[in-house]
Amino acid sequence: MKLTQFKEQFYQHPSLVHANNAGLAPISLRAKETTEYWARRFFEEGFHTDHDYMKAVLDTRISLAKLIGCEAAEIAFYPSTSGGINQIAMQIGLVEDDEVLMWDQDYSSHLYPWQQACLKSKAKLKIIESDEKTWATDADKMIQAITPKTRVIAFSWMQYQTGAMMDYKKVIQAAKAKNIFVFVDSMQGLGILPCDLWDLGVDAIAGGSHKWLVSPVGAGYLVLRKKWLSTFKPHNYSSATFGTCDDPSDFECLPKTDASKYESGSKSVLEITALGASIDLILETQVTTLLNESLRLKKLLVQNLEKNYFCLDPNQANSFTSPIMNIQPLGTQTSVLQMSEKLKNHSVLHAKRGPGIRLAFHAFNSENDIDRICEALKI
Ligand SMILES: Cc1ncc(COP(=O)(O)O)c(C=O)c1O
Repeated sequence: MKLTQFKEQFYQHPSLVHANNAGLAPISLRAKETTEYWARRFFEEGFHTDHDYMKAVLDTRISLAKLIGCEAAEIAFYPSTSGGINQIAMQIGLVEDDEVLMWDQDYSSHLYPWQQACLKSKAKLKIIESDEKTWATDADKMIQAITPKTRVIAFSWMQYQTGAMMDYKKVIQAAKAKNIFVFVDSMQGLGILPCDLWDLGVDAIAGGSHKWLVSPVGAGYLVLRKKWLSTFKPHNYSSATFGTCDDPSDFECLPKTDASKYESGSKSVLEITALGASIDLILETQVTTLLNESLRLKKLLVQNLEKNYFCLDPNQANSFTSPIMNIQPLGTQTSVLQMSEKLKNHSVLHAKRGPGIRLAFHAFNSENDIDRICEALKI
């Protein structure tokens, strides 16, 4: 699919600018139509849809597996990212004195499950500090923090406030050499960054629907490598752990062997199938095409604003380019708070994050959106 066709899949609002796609992105036309389709069928046919909707959920599993490069049997669905993170953090079997390494920039839904798992087990949560000025997350700093007690390295593929990305390939390689479990929160990244995490040997990944995957809020995923599926006990138990919702209760039955044993019984069918529709759109357009367009728009905005504003680039020292921008005023003519007010007055969705204003373009954004932001931030 051509980039122009991808863009046509999004509603061109006459006055609203969506530049907070690292927060919540609008959904694609296909996702909207899929939601409407299932809502209509549930309205008209009720449980007669049973077989069809289960097949549609399976189709999403297959599409997501394609995007990640894993097997569909390694995927479990949740209503949010943290559902999947809790499954791993609470069931990995941390014990006293184990160490878990994370960055100081990680999002709360990623941090808290690991924090709670450490508190429960008396394991140590070691928070690695980013560079104070540049917010850079230097891979060597993470690697140097590894000790014989390090059990888990858990990091966000792309940090939510600044777009900081460490050289994750280097960290994964170092962790693998020492048999350390690697967990990646891919919420910021999947859909806009080509996914090499699985090929690199990451043990588990979790993320959700409503940012770069341009789908409704309410679908999350966990991907757990096949070799771990028999080791990790389900954190939640349901009919789906052992079979289907139609199976009679049976005290002797054994858990399923694929990752769906971690899911709750009933599924968020509308959200999951809409997610599948948007993933197919992304696969058809190709992630690199989307990333290039997002970076082109980012560059255009930075060029237009550079006289009066500073765009933080935590990835300057490495080869990564993130679609997330964090912008601060250069002089004293305006402040971050005033920037936010100006953007609000021009209906530009943004977020106050870290040191400045976070803006994040997806490939559906337009040059018109850039003009609107420049107009809003004119000094
Ligand atoms: C890195 C990261 N992880 C996770 C989430 C969301 O977590 P949850 O789906 O549990 O609300 C976000 C933002 O919403 C995020 O930026």
